[in-house]
Amino acid sequence: MQFNFKSKIGLGTWQMGQNPTKFDDEVRAVEHALSLGYELIDTAEMYASGVSEKIVGQALKNFGSSKRNNLTLVSKVLPSNASKSGVIKACEASLKRMGCEYLDVYLLHWQSSSPFEETIEGFMDLQSRGLIKHHGVSNFDVEQMKKWLKTEKTLGASKSATNQVYYALNERGVEFDLIDYLDSEGISTMAYSPLGTGQLARHKGLTELANKLSVTAAQLALAWAIRNNRVIAIPKSVTPSRISENLRASEINLDDETLSVLDSLFQPPRSKKTLAVI
Ligand SMILES: NC(=O)c1ccc[n+]([C@@H]2O[C@H](COP(=O)([O-])OP(=O)(O)OC[C@H]3O[C@@H](n4cnc5c(N)ncnc54)[C@H](OP(=O)(O)O)[C@@H]3O)[C@@H](O)[C@H]2O)c1
Repeated sequence: MQFNFKSKIGLGTWQMGQNPTKFDDEVRAVEHALSLGYELIDTAEMYASGVSEKIVGQALKNFGSSKRNNLTLVSKVLPSNASKSGVIKACEASLKRMGCEYLDVYLLHWQSSSPFEETIEGFMDLQSRGLIKHHGVSNFDVEQMKKWLKTEKTLGASKSATNQVYYALNERGVEFDLIDYLDSEGISTMAYSPLGTGQLARHKGLTELANKLSVTAAQLALAWAIRNNRVIAIPKSVTPSRISENLRASEINLDDETLSVLDSLFQPPRSKKTLAVI
């Protein structure tokens, strides 16, 4: 059964926690997102070696637990921790840093040298103990995904909720076959770096088109990423006005004419390419 992500725009937190002097501001940024109604936050044990998870945890604590049930909290295990016991220990450590009882979605950050069986068994253990509700992967292309899903089935595990991949106007490779494949399996695509790590917000052609539509270039890039209701986008920002601006992108509908201008500015893939990874 497809995991139903409630919102199409979530908050990314990569780069948060890198500079200790910005910790409090970054906590406030995440709190601001929660107060605006963001219902998904993405973090990872890798981000600032766990400090990003601490920032999310502190923001959740300050905000109060009332919204926890409506929030989809996503974190990721590093491939170097993807053995069965490694996954379990890594998740327990992430939960401790966040001061949370459970994660909604726990992802393998990218493919590991540990066999898929090991990682999936770790996810199954965590799920049986209520420490995670769902699991998934990140940076998997079609062939890896097929092998992963086969292993889930063999082990009797639940199906992955999502595959988090680089997807943005400037990086459309996954449109060639991956998104359709995930869709056919009932798995959501989660678009990371949907602003092209920020460059799309400054893109000249995109800005000109956005001005005509009375939106910002960032909003146009995000509205495009989530246009078919098949993709969830997780832009990162620590700037309160941008956090609000990005969420409002979910209210923008793009007509065929706009989509076709976007296709001419950023061409769709015509052949299979190596999966883009940041
Ligand atoms: N699974 C993976 O391997 C993987 C890889 C990369 C990223 N991710 C996830 O995806 C999230 C998003 O990707 P990302 O952080 O790489 O890049 P992004 O969301 O595409 O871009 C973030 C950059 O854009 C700026 N920005 C945000 N909103 C803006 C707006 N409305 N106008 C102008 N600039 C804006 C931010 O600046 P300020 O913060 O200064 O506002 C930041 O510099 C990450 O934070 C992380 O959670 C996952």
